[in-house]
Parts: sequence; structure tokens; C-alpha cells
Amino acid sequence: MELLISLSSPPLHHITSSANSNRKQINRQNIKGRAWGTTRGGVAHRASHGGRVSPSCSTVVKKMDRSTGPAFVLVPLLLFWSRIKPKAHCRHYYYSASVLGKEPPYIAPPPPPAASTMITAAASRALRAPVARAARNGAAPLASSRTAVLSISASSALAGGTIDCSSAPRRHKSTCPHAASAAAAAAADAGCPVHADKAGGAPDDVSHPKLVEVPSLPGVGSLLRSYSGIPDLEKPYTFWPEMRRQHGDFYTMGMPGLGSEDCSRHTCYVVQDPREMMKVLRSEGSYPSGLAQGSWGIFRWEKEAGFETVSHADGGFAGQGENWKRIRTFMQTDLLHPTAARGYTSGLIEVAQLAARGAPASAADLNAYFERCAFDMFSTVMFGDLMEVADPSTPTDPEDVEFVRAAKVGLGTGVKVSRSLKDALLVKTLGIETEQYRLMKDNLDICWEIGSGKIQRFMDKREKDELNEREKNSYLYRALERYESGTSGVSLKEALEMSWGGIFAAVDTTSGKMGWNVLHAALNPEIQERLHQELSHAAAANGGRLTVEALDKSSAPYLHAFVRESHRLTPVSPIATRKCVASDELTIHGITIPRGSAVMCDGYSLGQDPMYIDDPRSFQPERWLDDAVQARKGTPRELIDHPFFKDPFSQGARKCPGSRVALNEVAVILSQLVLDYQITAPGTSSIEEVSYGQETVIEPRLPRLNFEPRA
Ligand code: HEM
Repeated sequence: MELLISLSSPPLHHITSSANSNRKQINRQNIKGRAWGTTRGGVAHRASHGGRVSPSCSTVVKKMDRSTGPAFVLVPLLLFWSRIKPKAHCRHYYYSASVLGKEPPYIAPPPPPAASTMITAAASRALRAPVARAARNGAAPLASSRTAVLSISASSALAGGTIDCSSAPRRHKSTCPHAASAAAAAAADAGCPVHADKAGGAPDDVSHPKLVEVPSLPGVGSLLRSYSGIPDLEKPYTFWPEMRRQHGDFYTMGMPGLGSEDCSRHTCYVVQDPREMMKVLRSEGSYPSGLAQGSWGIFRWEKEAGFETVSHADGGFAGQGENWKRIRTFMQTDLLHPTAARGYTSGLIEVAQLAARGAPASAADLNAYFERCAFDMFSTVMFGDLMEVADPSTPTDPEDVEFVRAAKVGLGTGVKVSRSLKDALLVKTLGIETEQYRLMKDNLDICWEIGSGKIQRFMDKREKDELNEREKNSYLYRALERYESGTSGVSLKEALEMSWGGIFAAVDTTSGKMGWNVLHAALNPEIQERLHQELSHAAAANGGRLTVEALDKSSAPYLHAFVRESHRLTPVSPIATRKCVASDELTIHGITIPRGSAVMCDGYSLGQDPMYIDDPRSFQPERWLDDAVQARKGTPRELIDHPFFKDPFSQGARKCPGSRVALNEVAVILSQLVLDYQITAPGTSSIEEVSYGQETVIEPRLPRLNFEPRA
């Protein structure tokens, strides 16, 4: 999830408040007066400082900030408002009820089908009031009651047992494996509209899941759990499957920070079916919206700092216009294309070999270890340098350690700021800085100071023609070459801001994915052994040392299947794909979605559903090997192989530009550790015992692991 953060350094006149700030001011002045003002080719420029970051790539809104006092004061008012202001999509209540011919017990009889789309404010109120009442009384939310009417327990249907329509989600007929099973007829008899349709008895309309509206209030959306009845958002791995169980395969909920800006309830449509999501993707046009845009705290800080990348009238990189496209094109060149990303892999292997030596000594704090690994690895992509921060036994530049710390806090806090109603009210609306906002700012300052210093030193070396071959293979070297060639379309200041943003964004995102993968290896000794055998075999030709080719899918299919399975079971971002509808015509599951609406694809829940994945809580990389994928082809289960579900980086033109490099980093560090050590998790026997938290991405709280060197 992921949000993009851009960072900037404050302009000199903003930094006046403390001795510390004065130090930064001098440093920045140096930067400004040195290489960023003069390129090797003698091109004068206006650069001073700046940067950009991809902050949290996570899509899950945290629960309402505890300190959101004002929101609680407003709640009675909001409740009142919600009663007098018609909801935007209430027609769907009628739509569902009328199409199904069911009459939910909590509403007055629906109008006849012909009138079902002609919703009125009065009708809306008639529907809404019982929802709120039921929720306040602690009863199941309205939508879940409705779901119960429609659902059928697929697993019991498959087993040929008693059919229980009360718990399973409704789903599209073509995505439901049971539709093809012998139990379909029995399911139809029991009233399941999906199976009834298969049996030829129901109108076409019921083949689509009906839109369910989760109760939502202006301002807070569905975050007030006592009102909306949603599960705990702090536990995303249970939240999304539970939402699906309660509300089915197509529902709306209010998600401040992610939902549609023009809707006070922050309405987000949530779909399961990637084919429906494809329609949204195709509609996104040349200037799509992105998750990163929600990181208003970081963008605000950047703007105050005079970042050029966000100072354009159309919002620049934080916007959706020509300037986003221009800057984005520059950033992703030499980074996103598979060939470009592959070009950095030999450097990643070198870094991983050094970093792996530090694993045993870091066992007590493996989260921090993987943050340092991520820093070391992306630094070699950016600068072609070996930072060696991950191995505590080698001399380490304290500046680098501080950068890693500040990047984690800065990005993590930036994500919290963008999700906090208190910060939105005080900082965004009233211009009053909160403690949390200042924490973010201070750490971004540190990151900028250190990161821009590194960029400066690289430019100095380049100026003096002192770079070695590995450094000349770096992203930054190529970016500067592109800039100087005059074909990049960006200013030098923009180029440097974006490069800085890359190193900042790369720490606290990739580290989470590394942690989950290594944890799964530790918890599954037999699988780890199989992976070790595959890697040893692939690396044998090179004396047992990894090569770029040894990591290819053709040489190491089990490695790729392993990473895919880790993503299925413990994604760092369960909902990575969130797009805004950019057309007036778009229909999802037969419903026309208003232009500008946010639509999210729940890429996680299907992967936890026994109808799609056998024994979903067990870690089985074999599921993703070619023969297993082939065996699913032509069956309803093939939905799980849809490209939308394969990684946590989103899709389309706004997809994470660091995604390919990040995936390579994960594969390389996992492989190196498994080649070097037998990894075990003493005292932890199952993934269910490991707690996790929503930081920038979802991270495991890694238990102590044992790294036993292999002979
Ligand atoms: C496992 C690690 C990572 C994950 C899970 C991740 C995930 C994401 C996601 C989900 C998005 C939003 C895409 C959208 O709006 O459709 C995103 C955006 C972004 N990410 Fe990452 N990311 C990771 C690593 C990185 C790295 C290493 C970089 C360094 C270049 C990076 C830079 C960015 C940037 C600049 C954006 C904003 C793109 C835009 O708005 O055009 N990310 N990331």
C-alpha cells in the first residue's frame, strides 16, 4: 500500500528555529552552491534541494486516531446529518431487494422492480434509519443481514452436506466453483440465487453480486465501528475476509484518505473480481489517480520546502496531470522495465552476500536488520555503492544508520498523518502543526540532509570522473546522463528530488516483504530444504554462489512460487489496487459507478477462501508451480492466477515504479540467507503465532530466528 510520499528539504528561509535547523541550513546552502548548481557538462541550473518518496504503499486505513477528540464531539451532529441527508447510493438497497424478490426484514416493502432505480430521499431515509439502529444495538450490520439472505455455504455444498445459507458470501456465478459442482442444484433448491441461475431458474441480474452499502457517516466514513459494525481495521488479515463474509463480493464502505474526495462519506467500492477491476483500470486514462496522492502530510511538507516536483499548478508528482506524467516517465526509466531492473541484480547479489553475514548477530531485532538490508540493496541500485549497514560486524557509517532510522519513522509517521482525522483537521484545515506532524517533519529533514549529502558526493565524484564501473551502472548515474542529454524532460532539481525519494521510499516497504518471506522459510523446514536444494543446484555452475541467471524463474521456479505464496498468505499490502473511475459509463456488476468514485480490489480474500485455495492457512509454494497453474486453467479457480493478485504493487500507469527492483531484492536476500544458513524459529511453530502491525506496510513482528551456518 501503497502511498507515494515525496520529500523535500525546506527552503533556507524556512529553517530558522533552532541550532539544529541552522546546521541543516548551512549544509543545504553547501549543497545548493555545489554540484546541484553545476553539472559536469557545465549546465547551470536552479536546483537547491528536494526529494520524493514513496511512503506507505499500504491501502488499509487505520482505526480512528485515539486522540481524535473533535470527531467524537461531532458524532451526534454527523449522525443527525446522516439521517437528513440522502445517501448517494441508496438505490442499491432497493435494487438488491427487488431483483432478488427478497424483502429484508428491516425495511418497508421495496417498490416494484420498475421503480427500483428511482430512489428518493424519503426512501433512502426509510432504509438508513434501521441500519443505524441495528448497528447501535450491536446487531449484525444491515448489509450482513442482507448477505445472510443471499448466501449459501459453498463448502458444505461441496461436501454434499447440509446447505447453510447463512454464512457464505454471495459471489458471481462465474467465479463460484460450486456452480460447476454437483451440489449446484441442491444449492439452487435451497435458495441460492447464484446456483439458481446456473440451474436456469433465475433472472440474469442475480448472476452479479448485489451492491451492499456498509453504514458510513460524513467525515469519518465507516471508521466508527459501533455505527458501521466493521471489524478491526488494525488486523487487516482478518478484516478483509470478514468484510467479504459479511457483505459479499461487492460493497461500499467509507474510508477517509482513500475514498472518493468529493464524497463526504469517503465512499470506496470494494470488489473481489479482478475482471471487474480491469474495467476500472482501463478507464483510468492518461492521468490516473494513485494511492500516493493520499499522502498529504508528506506532500504538504514538500510544498512548504519548495519542492519543484510538487510546485506545478496541476500538483506535479502529487497530482494527475501532464507534470505527473513527465516526472513519472523520468523516474521509472531505468527502473521499472524488466531488463532495467535485471541490470541491477548482480549488485544486489553482492550486497546480499555481505548482508547475510550479519543475520546471526541481528537475530534479536530482525525487523531492523531487514530495514538495513533494504537500504543496502536499494543504495546499490541508486549509487552502485556497498553501504554494508546490515552486517553489524563491519564498520558502518553512522549517517547511514541514522538515515535508515529516520526513513522508517518519517515514512511511517507520514502514513499515520495522512490517515489521522486529527491531523487532517488541525494541520490540513487549520494550519496548526500536531506533535505527530512535527515528528514526521523532523525525520524527513534528517533523511533529506543525509540523502542529499550522498547524492552530492556522488555528483562530485562524477564531476571528477572518479566513479567505478559499478557506480556507472547505477540508477543515479544514468539519470544524470539522461538529464544532461536534454531528453529527460525534467529539470536537474526534479531529477534529484525523485532520486532522493527513491532511497527514502525503498527502506520501510521492501523490508516488510523480506521479513515475511524469511519467516515463512524458518517456519517451514521442509519447504526451506527444497528451496535450498533448488538454489544450490542453480548456483552449482558458479561454485555455489548466486548468479543473475540462477535466480531466473526458469532456473529457480520454486523460489518464485515461494515468494508468490508468501504474498498470498501474508501480503504487505492486502489491497494494493485502488483506482478512481474516470468514465461516466463504467458499470461494475451491472451498476453504473459515478465518475471519480474510488474502487478497490480486495486481492487478499479470495486467496484465503477454501473454494479457491485448498487448506488456505498452510504455506504451500507448490500451488504456484506451472503444473498447478495449468491444472487450474479453464476452471473457476483460475481466477486466483489473475495478474492483479500476484504482487502488492498495484497495476496500471501508476503502479509502483520500484516494484521490479523490490521483488528482485526480496528474492536475492531470501536466496542468499537460505543458501548460507539453516533458518529456524525456536519457540514459534506457526504463522498464526506471529503478530503483525500496519506500519508503512504490514510487517511481521519478527520473532528471534536461529541462523545455523550450512556446511
Ligand atoms: C515491497 C516494497 C514496495 C511495495 C509493496 C510498494 C507498493 C506500492 C504501491 C501499492 C503503490 C501505489 C500504486 C498506485 O497508486 O497504483 C506504490 C507507489 C509508489 N512506489 Fe512503491 N512499493 C514498494 C517499494 C518501492 C520502492 C523500492 C520504491 C523506490 C523507487 C517505490 C517507489 C514508489 C513511488 C515513487 C510510488 C508512486 C508512484 C506514482 O504515484 O506514480 N516503491 N508503491
